[in-house]
Amino acid sequence: MSLSVAELNETKVVPVEGLLPALAHRWSPRSFKDQPVAAGELKTVLEAARWAASSGNVQPWRFLVGVKGTEAWDKIFATLVPFNQAWAANAAVLILGLGIERDANGRANRYALYDLGQAVSQLTAQAAALGLVTHSMGGFDADAARKAFGLSEDYGLGAVIALGHQAAPGALADAQMQAREVAARERKPLSEIALTALDTPLEI
Ligand SMILES: Cc1cc2nc3c(=O)[nH]c(=O)nc-3n(C[C@H](O)[C@H](O)[C@H](O)COP(=O)(O)O)c2cc1C
Repeated sequence: MSLSVAELNETKVVPVEGLLPALAHRWSPRSFKDQPVAAGELKTVLEAARWAASSGNVQPWRFLVGVKGTEAWDKIFATLVPFNQAWAANAAVLILGLGIERDANGRANRYALYDLGQAVSQLTAQAAALGLVTHSMGGFDADAARKAFGLSEDYGLGAVIALGHQAAPGALADAQMQAREVAARERKPLSEIALTALDTPLEI
């Protein structure tokens, strides 16, 4: 029997008490419905990114937003590696995240990608709160993206984010992809990442 979206998502919830619901429920599916995201919801998701913290409040993030059926979507999709194209073809929105690493006066901003990451984190949590799903992809041709959008070296490239409505795992064409979709989520233990020195876990 193939799992429904609700059945699958139940297995993906983070089993940690006290987490914000959007964080507990966010995960990165690959099975997307061929269904648009309402303009109001897309705007809310982008607003969530807009209100992230940034060094000096410079807000160095830029989002190239491709809505399916537009040239921007086609341009972003064309940069994806074949593995990602195989599942992201139904994603209603593809977003390429940029960080401005050098401003118009030539000043470097070493926090640009840090700030972009924070903004994307807010974007993904907001999407989860709205019942939408996101999936980041580093698997894209950065040079092709630079060419397609005329991006100078002043822009650092983050990842492409697929945004849309989740479909059941059975909608994925490939059996291997379906198996990955239903696999258990994994994380390193807190003792490996929360430390008081490189070889000493925080006691908590
Ligand atoms: C920067 C970044 C790049 C990623 N690149 C890809 C990718 O190219 N293709 C893909 O299928 N998943 C990609 N992922 C998804 C990760 O594999 C996924 O987030 C990770 O396994 C944790 O799973 P979760 O998001 O469901 O918690 C990427 C995620 C991030 C944050």
